[in-house]
Amino acid sequence: MNRREFSQAVALGASALVAQAPAEDESKAAELPTKSAVKVGAANAACVADYQQLAEAILPSATANYVSHGSTDQQTLRENVAAFQRIKLLPPLLHGVDKVDPSTTVLGQKIKLPVLLAPTAGQNLYHPDGILATARAAAAVGTILGVSSSCGHTPEQIAAVSTGPKWFQLYVPKDRNVGRRLIERVEQAGFQAVIVTVDLGERKDADLRNRFSLPPDLLRNHLQGYGFQVPKNLSEAELAAFNLRLWDTGFTWDIFAWLRSITKLPLLIKGVLRADDAKRAVDLGLQGIVVSNHGGRRLDGVPASIDCLEKVANAVEGRTTVLLDSGIRRGTDVFKALALGAQGVLIGRPYVWALAANGEAGVRHVLQLLEEELISAMHACGCASIAEISPEVILKNS
Ligand code: FNR
Repeated sequence: MNRREFSQAVALGASALVAQAPAEDESKAAELPTKSAVKVGAANAACVADYQQLAEAILPSATANYVSHGSTDQQTLRENVAAFQRIKLLPPLLHGVDKVDPSTTVLGQKIKLPVLLAPTAGQNLYHPDGILATARAAAAVGTILGVSSSCGHTPEQIAAVSTGPKWFQLYVPKDRNVGRRLIERVEQAGFQAVIVTVDLGERKDADLRNRFSLPPDLLRNHLQGYGFQVPKNLSEAELAAFNLRLWDTGFTWDIFAWLRSITKLPLLIKGVLRADDAKRAVDLGLQGIVVSNHGGRRLDGVPASIDCLEKVANAVEGRTTVLLDSGIRRGTDVFKALALGAQGVLIGRPYVWALAANGEAGVRHVLQLLEEELISAMHACGCASIAEISPEVILKNS
């Protein structure tokens, strides 16, 4: 069989036949694409899972574990992905949709696709340019960048490389004056919203085994960049203990009244799973809710965030923006989340893996792959715009 016949056979779905056909000689046999022969590199990565594989091969194993693993038994981590796979799409046929537009508006910000970048810590550990590469990619693609308080660069450094839309995620310091000064800097740097993450504290077995922690120089930089006065000449253990004493992990809903008193920026709460909490957020006038279980990195055994979405969306009745993260790996997952009531989704690991594999280009590419998959799903389901995505296409259990 020559190459042309081979291509035709594959196009006709006869790849099993091709695999069984005896090869004419060694060199032709080597050309046949078998699963093991196709090597995944940044240049031919085709999906989020490819970037995971690449990142895990490149990063030191303790860092790779820190990124990819979930807390304790990792039930919620697995469930986040499995729950999306359980949801089935049943598309109506022949809607006459030719062109599909995946752009949308979130909190008044027009974006090219409904996939935002979730705040993630320690980005210098994954790529030498850290979040600066991520920020450039988000701006180039035209989406919103979520910036973690612990990302590794200051708000000013990030603003200097990116004019794209940015939201700042706050970890709350016990010393509220330090927090107030930081929020002032965030406003001056042109950030457009503040996210308060409320599901705090990770406990991952792999991190414990690996004794994973931020290297002391990065930790010192991070704390100084946040605005803390860090005493000189602390040992590594003293610096770690100093860090632990700085953060407020026991705050209540009052945190939003304090934030409202110091900034006019829209406020979002990240980590909501319950309808009653969502209602409370609406009553407090918060501009957005992120339905999230922190990517399965916080309390193991909580449900997948996609399984909590409908109840949250119904409870808020359109009075605030609802976003979702945790477990998005495909454009069809984005589509399902929008169909079930989210106005947009955030991704964490998918872009961190791509950042590790290929820096700014990797992050741009992984967003592009998700966009292409989303467009394909919209096309198949007859949705020309994001507004046309509805629960009608979700197969309900009978
Ligand atoms: C996170 N996440 C996170 N969230 C947050 O509010 N502040 C932070 O500093 C971090 N740091 C962080 C580091 C790393 C390496 C990961 C993977 C995640 C959680 C993140 O914002 C988001 O909720 C999840 O990543 C979403 O789940 P997926 O997309 O990773 O499945």
